[in-house]
Amino acid sequence: MKIDVLLGIQWGDEGKGKVVDVLTPNYDIIARFQGGPNAGHSLEFGNIRHVLHSIPSGIFHEEKINIIGNGVVIDPIIFQNEVADLQKLGVDVRRNLFISRKAHLILPSHRILDAASEASKGKTKIGSTLKGIGPTYMDKIGRNGLRIGDILRPDFPDLYTFLINKHRNLLRQYDFSYHLEEEEEKWFEAIEELKTFQLIDSEYFINQALCEGKKILAEGAQGTLLDIDFGTYPFVTSSNTTTAGACTGLGIPPNVIGEVFGIAKAYCTRVGSGPFPTELFDETGNQIREYGNEFGATTGRPRRCGWLDLLALKYAIMINGVTQLIITKADVLNFFDEIKVGMHYQFEDNDITEFPFHLSDKLKPVFQSFKGWKIENYSKNLPSKLNEYIEFLEKETKIPVSMVSTGANREAMIFRK
Ligand code: IMO
Ligand code: MG
Repeated sequence: MKIDVLLGIQWGDEGKGKVVDVLTPNYDIIARFQGGPNAGHSLEFGNIRHVLHSIPSGIFHEEKINIIGNGVVIDPIIFQNEVADLQKLGVDVRRNLFISRKAHLILPSHRILDAASEASKGKTKIGSTLKGIGPTYMDKIGRNGLRIGDILRPDFPDLYTFLINKHRNLLRQYDFSYHLEEEEEKWFEAIEELKTFQLIDSEYFINQALCEGKKILAEGAQGTLLDIDFGTYPFVTSSNTTTAGACTGLGIPPNVIGEVFGIAKAYCTRVGSGPFPTELFDETGNQIREYGNEFGATTGRPRRCGWLDLLALKYAIMINGVTQLIITKADVLNFFDEIKVGMHYQFEDNDITEFPFHLSDKLKPVFQSFKGWKIENYSKNLPSKLNEYIEFLEKETKIPVSMVSTGANREAMIFRK
């Protein structure tokens, strides 16, 4: 048996949550492998609309196992709220959710450090979700972090105090006022709740499940262009959002990876700072934002909108070894007579055909135009113009497009071939 990987291949918000939810019936286990509550994975079915942050998107299928892998960072307070929200919908998370002992903990001070660092950067800020992601991964790599398994150690309060004191020292270098006490109280309450969950060595759990012939889907967060190594550094997140991240974030060897589902919108969005060559600053950009409801699921921020960037897409396909493409939000482009795709960039009359080290503002995308389409939300067939667009993407990327999403709802999905 192999582990299939599903990940975003743009700047996040590609619709991963919805697609995982649609694919979950084909699997026994859904496992998140990186990121944390910076993610906002939206699901919609029946009259339920729900956003998940740390919990895998298979959670609404009660017979399926969901795992938060070692590569994930967890904020106990946000996690507690997520559990409570799911409980209100009748989902008893304790039954089918397992958490890696090796996943790292986000402390209240990590969030404060994130905010202080961003404030100090002024115009050059990353545009972080301010969930403490960067500082938590810094402590992980710096070998100072606290892990989920540590909460059961008798000396956990001492470990906490040691780290918090380090953070207080770090915060002295910033001109930033903060209040920790109230947050700490909530945090320790949430830690008590975390103790009641099934904490596991997820690398053993997953590899044993594989030997037993179980089918596993690894769920990514963010997107390839936010990857710490291959994204638009420094305007990235602090983890490997790519297929390789599934190996380190779950403890699985590369040779067990099966299909790699790369998810991309029919256009492009980005939230936060950083380069975005095909960004639209005109009315078309505003219309995409409006029709696509392009506002952050985690922070509510308006997303920057633009045309599909094929050069960046090909780069992401290469890094991840994508075997199937899934195109989402095709219905949002219903409103346009002309649709464009950025083919490559130009810089001082030179064609740039590889994703450059520095994505300068001076790069100009070269666009190709397509005729628009009209697709009904629950249609099971692609209109001919959309089909032409999809076939063009397949020809350019040499990767089959296996699914096209035409709306937020679970039912709004066209399966091809
Ligand atoms: P999902 O999983 C879109 C962006 C932030 C910021 C940068 C760094 O829903 O696709 P961080 O909080 O990680 O330090 O922020 O990354 N970002 C996302 N953008 N979707 C996400 O997740 C994101 N997670 C982080 O906006 O630019
Ligand atoms: Mg998001």
